[in-house]
Amino acid sequence: MESRGKKLDVLLSAEQLDQRCRQLGEEISRDYAGEELHAVAVLKGSFMFLADLVRYIDVDVSIDFLGLSSYGSRKATSGVVRMTSDLALPIKERHVLIVEDIIDTGLTMKYLLDNLKTRMPRSLATCTLLDKPSNRRVDVPVDYVGFEIPDKFVIGYGLDDAEFSRHLPYIGVVSQDKDG
Ligand code: IMP
Ligand code: MG
Repeated sequence: MESRGKKLDVLLSAEQLDQRCRQLGEEISRDYAGEELHAVAVLKGSFMFLADLVRYIDVDVSIDFLGLSSYGSRKATSGVVRMTSDLALPIKERHVLIVEDIIDTGLTMKYLLDNLKTRMPRSLATCTLLDKPSNRRVDVPVDYVGFEIPDKFVIGYGLDDAEFSRHLPYIGVVSQDKDG
């Protein structure tokens, strides 16, 4: 596989991603049976995961988005997280599920949990498609994990390489840059 002249190894295929979304959707539906769920997805990386996950959720679910970004170089978090766009809807008294693409150092999720807790949700849980536990700098509770992956830079299925490659239907690891 290739994207923008870089060779990619497929880490998770479209089929594996779909199958795991189904399992997670079914688990979430069981856990929230009889309740209304409010899914909060973090832009931009989780847009594809959210879209696939909610298709397998069969409790009443509302959806909102927020934007976060961390300053720093392309492939490493600086630790300074900033909100680039806030939620459109209040979350007070709602059962909130944060939907993330990947948890790496944990700093982004920590920032988000601290921020959303102050808004008094009825409950607050976290779901991430990918988890890189070996790179954690702060402890964050993760309720639903799609896949644990090694500490490698991954792209596709929402995740970007300098804003490109988000459209790939699979998750890949860059194995070789175009200049070798
Ligand atoms: P954390 O704050 O270090 O946990 O990083 C979380 C954010 O960094 C994610 O929401 C991603 O936007 C980005 N990120 C971390 N690892 C990767 C990766 O392997 N590929 C693409 N983005 C990543
Ligand atoms: Mg992200």
